[in-house]
Amino acid sequence: MLALQSITEEIAEFKRARRAVILEHHYQEPEIQELADAVGDSLELARKAQEFSGDVIAFCGVWFMAETAKVLNPERVVVVPDRHAGCSLVDACPVDQLKAWKAKNPGYTVVSYINTSVEVKAESDILCTSRNAVKIVNSIPAGQPVLFLPDINLGNYVREQTGRENMKIWQGACIVHATFAARKLSTARAEHPSALVAAHPECPKDVLAMADFIGSTSAIVDWCATQDAAEFIVMTESGVRYSLERSAPEKKFHFIPNEQCNCSECPYMKRNTLEKLRDALRDLNPRVELAPEIMERARRPIERMLAVK
Ligand code: 13P
Ligand code: SF4
Repeated sequence: MLALQSITEEIAEFKRARRAVILEHHYQEPEIQELADAVGDSLELARKAQEFSGDVIAFCGVWFMAETAKVLNPERVVVVPDRHAGCSLVDACPVDQLKAWKAKNPGYTVVSYINTSVEVKAESDILCTSRNAVKIVNSIPAGQPVLFLPDINLGNYVREQTGRENMKIWQGACIVHATFAARKLSTARAEHPSALVAAHPECPKDVLAMADFIGSTSAIVDWCATQDAAEFIVMTESGVRYSLERSAPEKKFHFIPNEQCNCSECPYMKRNTLEKLRDALRDLNPRVELAPEIMERARRPIERMLAVK
């Protein structure tokens, strides 16, 4: 207890000295979320980064989110507690393979999920997040063909919602959401018959078909808080429980283990710890460093997305 208190005090001290803000994704551990200046989904965090005017951003999330913050703040320092906080979707789409796909499909508009490397962003026309993907694709003229990457489940969901047939989808997946099983969701529904189901669009199609609501992490938190129901089955990473219970303490939330590891935790998000956050603020490392030319090219598709309200 004492040790925890002294680490949080050290974090507060380094944060003040560095003129830093701490931005956090909902999937972070509760004790880290307690220290955040803002907790949000990937779109909200990108908007927070765009508005930032201090010296240092400590990004408690995964690396691609911090890269986005750096592109929007090229003159500022952006650190992440753990350099290996990656994402399976980023790994699923190397930039050379994207270049080959574009070469085979000239004239297509490239819509990339924010869960991509900065190099992939630099090759994209516009970005999207789970919160605005349908809106972003709808903002592209109807006859214009689209390459959507890298999440196959989000892509299929967007194609269904927009009714776009001229849309090709990359075959990447999130190791957490893609392994949620409809079979386990059916069992949970039988156990909690009055619960509503909220799902993240990275889940497989048969899971989404059983959902009462589909949305980003923040959208799920907001939706659960405004429903009359008292119980929910939540098909996303279990770290969001903290935000759910903060916004609706009287309600009950059930999480389902996925097929892969019998939990529903993102191993990348969970690499960040309080100790690593303290060290990152003290040492300004691990720090996101990007070539100016890449940042310049990646900024356009990010800003295009942020301009879509
Ligand atoms: P959000 O867009 O809901 O923040 O999701 C990001 C993510 O990594 C989901 O796994
Ligand atoms: Fe990537 Fe999935 Fe982890 Fe989100 S939950 S950061 S999509 S691996």
